[in-house]
Amino acid sequence: MPERRSRGVINFSARYYDLIVQWFVMRGKEQTFRSMTADIAHLQPSEEVLDIGCGTGTMAVAAKRRVGESGHVVGIDPSAQLLAGARRKAARQGLTIDFRLAGVEELDFPDDSFDVAMGTFMIHHLPDDVIRRGLAELGRVLRPGGRLLLIDFKRPEDHHVRPERFGETAIGIQDLPPLLETAGFSRLESGEMPFRIRSVSREHKSYGYVRAVRGSR
Ligand SMILES: C[S@@+](CC[C@H](N)C(=O)[O-])C[C@H]1O[C@@H](n2cnc3c(N)ncnc32)[C@H](O)[C@@H]1O
Repeated sequence: MPERRSRGVINFSARYYDLIVQWFVMRGKEQTFRSMTADIAHLQPSEEVLDIGCGTGTMAVAAKRRVGESGHVVGIDPSAQLLAGARRKAARQGLTIDFRLAGVEELDFPDDSFDVAMGTFMIHHLPDDVIRRGLAELGRVLRPGGRLLLIDFKRPEDHHVRPERFGETAIGIQDLPPLLETAGFSRLESGEMPFRIRSVSREHKSYGYVRAVRGSR
């Protein structure tokens, strides 16, 4: 896939991205956040996991540590620069993770390929039509009973905030449940994470998660 140049794709250096996330956004406690995320996803040894919008691969690395040698983790992202950083990170830690250049809206995997799909802070980077297509693709590549975990910002209800600063979409994490039902997911649960992040945008005031299970076809 050729690298896309849309606003949602992050085209800057993986090192710079990691510095901002580790030290500004996560206040030096990124591993705590990643470990909490793996807990909320209930990752188990031997599972096959897809990390969508994996960026520099920090979550994919944490997921690989949970699923172990017998498990398999694939990370996809449309940013070649961030993926290069992700590959370096996994190699430094001696971990085998399959990183691929792709967008969630067009996944090159057969139906029923994964036990778990997860995406952290990537939904707000997608335009509305890409979110809808991406959720349908996730419904396709997850096995029946497979779990989806999405973590992202809440759409601010305060009308003083500028919607164009929220991201590529006006869809916040609280708007996802009906879209997930349309895409064939059920057993929806939402919540907040007990981990405070510092935001790079005034429009990103709070965040949360949605968990869902892929129904039978
Ligand atoms: C804020 S970053 C989050 C990265 C990573 N999940 C993390 O937690 O550090 C958002 C990511 O979404 C990616 N992205 C943008 N458009 C995408 C698409 N259509 N499909 C998948 N990922 C996309 C960006 O390139 C970027 O890596």
